[in-house]
Amino acid sequence: MRALFVVLKPLCFLALLGYCPSATIRPKEGWQVYSSAQDADGRCICTVVAPEQSLCSRDAKSRQLRLLLEKIQNMSQSIEVLNLRTQRDFQYVMKMESQIKGLRSKFRQIESNRRTLLTKNFQELKGKMNELQPLLPVLEQYKTDATLISQFKLEIRNLSLVLTAIQEEIGAYDYEELQQRVLGLEGRLRNCMNKLTCGKLMKITGPITVKTSGTRFGAWMTDPQASPKNNKVWYMDSYTNNKIVREYKSVSDFVAGIESRTYNLPFHWAGTNHVVYNGSLYYNKYQSNIIVRYSFESGRVTTQRALESAGFHNVYPYTWGGFSDIDLMADELGLWAIYATNQNAGNIVISRLDPLTIQVLNSWNTEYSKRNAGESFMICGTLYITNSHLTGAKVYYSYSTKTSTYEYMDIPIHNQYFHMSMLDYNARDRALYGWNNGHQVLFNVTLFHIIKTDDES
Ligand SMILES: *[C@@H]1O[C@H](CO)[C@@H](O)[C@H](O)[C@H]1NC(C)=O
Ligand SMILES: *[C@@H]1O[C@H](CO)[C@@H](O)[C@H](O)[C@H]1NC(C)=O
Ligand SMILES: *[C@@H]1O[C@H](CO)[C@@H](O)[C@H](O)[C@H]1NC(C)=O
Ligand SMILES: *[C@@H]1O[C@H](CO)[C@@H](O)[C@H](O)[C@H]1NC(C)=O
Repeated sequence: MRALFVVLKPLCFLALLGYCPSATIRPKEGWQVYSSAQDADGRCICTVVAPEQSLCSRDAKSRQLRLLLEKIQNMSQSIEVLNLRTQRDFQYVMKMESQIKGLRSKFRQIESNRRTLLTKNFQELKGKMNELQPLLPVLEQYKTDATLISQFKLEIRNLSLVLTAIQEEIGAYDYEELQQRVLGLEGRLRNCMNKLTCGKLMKITGPITVKTSGTRFGAWMTDPQASPKNNKVWYMDSYTNNKIVREYKSVSDFVAGIESRTYNLPFHWAGTNHVVYNGSLYYNKYQSNIIVRYSFESGRVTTQRALESAGFHNVYPYTWGGFSDIDLMADELGLWAIYATNQNAGNIVISRLDPLTIQVLNSWNTEYSKRNAGESFMICGTLYITNSHLTGAKVYYSYSTKTSTYEYMDIPIHNQYFHMSMLDYNARDRALYGWNNGHQVLFNVTLFHIIKTDDES
C-alpha cells in the first residue's frame, strides 16, 4: 500500500503547475540581491555585493559598512517577499498532498474490495501511475527549496547582527576578512538567483499602453544590459525605408516626447526586429541577410556579418510580412537570431550569436514554419512563438534550446489594438515590449520557477 501512495504523490505537482500564481519578485533599483543557494553542505547562504577594495581611512570603512548594512536590510525585505511567495506555493503543495492522502484511503477501500474489480483494469491503473514515478523527486526538491529560503532568511538576520556589532567597534575589526567573506558568498548566490529568476512562461498580463505614436509598424526598446539607472529608450518607426533611430533618456521622456539624441544609421533597416544589447544596436540590413552592429557610443558600425542561409526580404517573414524575416533578440543567456532557411524547409532556426563578432555560436532547427508564426521571443533560452499577429493570438509553441525539445502551449496574449508588429522580451525589466498598431505597449510575464531534480542545482 505504501508504494501506491508514493506513486500518487507526483499528481499533486502536476496540479500545482496548473494554477500556481507564482508572483515574480524584482530587485528594486540599485539593489544587489541574491537569494538562497545551496552550498556543498546543503546550507543556505546569502550575500551582498562587496564594497570597493581601496579603503584606507577609518571613515571610509565605516561608510562602507553602513552601506553594507543598508543593503542587507534591503535584502531582508526582498527575502520577505520571496518567502511569502514560496510559502504560498508550499501551501498548495501541502493542500494537494492531503488530497492525495484522501485518494490513498479511497484506493485502500477499492483494493480491499478488488474481487469486484477486473484485475486487468487494476493493472492498467497501476501502470499509469508508474509512469508518473519520475516526477516524484521534483516535489521533494520543491519542499527542500522552501526550507532553504527560510534558512536563508535566518542567515541574513545573523549577518546583519554581526555587522551591527562590527560597526560599533569598527577599529577592532579586520575589514579584509569581512570583504573576503562577502566575496566568497557571492558566486554561489548568483547561481541561486539564476535558478529563481528563470522559469517557464505561465502567463502574460497587460498590456499597458505607454505611448501612442508612429506608424502601424515599428520597434521600441531599452537595453537589458544597461545599469539599472540607465533607462534609455530607443525608437525605430516603420519597417522599411528608414534609418533614423531616436533616443530618449527615460521612459517618461519618451512619453513626453523629449528626445535626447538621434542617430542616422549608414544603412536602412528591414523589418521591426532589432535589438539593443549592451550599448549596441543589432539590426538587419535592408534587402540582405546581413546583421549590422552599430555602437551608440562611437556612432559607427562596428561589425557586419551575413547570417548564412537565412531567408530575407519577405521570403520567410512572420505572418504580417514587413520584411520581418530575421528577428534579433536577447534574453538572460545572451543574443539570438530567429530566422528560417531553405535547408530547414522554411521552419524556424534559432541561433545564438556572439555579441562582438555576430558569429553563430550554436543553432537549433525547429519544426515550426516561420511564415505561420506571428511573433517570437526568447526567455531563459526557450523560444516562445505566437500563432498570429492579429486578435486572438496566443503563445502556441515553445522550443527549449537547453533540451532541444518543443512543446505546444496555450497562453493567451491580449492584442489590444489588433495588429502586433513587434514583441520582444527584456530580461532586465521582465517585460515584453510590443508595437501594437502604432501603440507602444508593455506586457508582464509570469514565470514558473522550475526546480531541477538532477544536475546543476
Ligand atoms: C535601500 O533601499 C532604499 C529604499 O528603497 C534605497 O534608497 C537605498 O539606496 C537602498 N540602499 C542600498 C545600499 O542599496
Ligand atoms: C551566526 O553567526 C555566528 C558568528 O559568525 C555563527 O557562529 C553562527 O553559527 C551563526 N548562526 C547561524 C544560524 O548562521
Ligand atoms: C558589454 O560591453 C562591455 C564593454 O563595453 C564588455 O566588457 C562586456 O563584456 C559586455 N557584456 C556582454 C554580456 O557582452
Ligand atoms: C507589471 O507588474 C508590476 C508589478 O506588479 C506593475 O507595477 C506594472 O505596472 C506591471 N506592468 C504591466 C505592463 O502590466
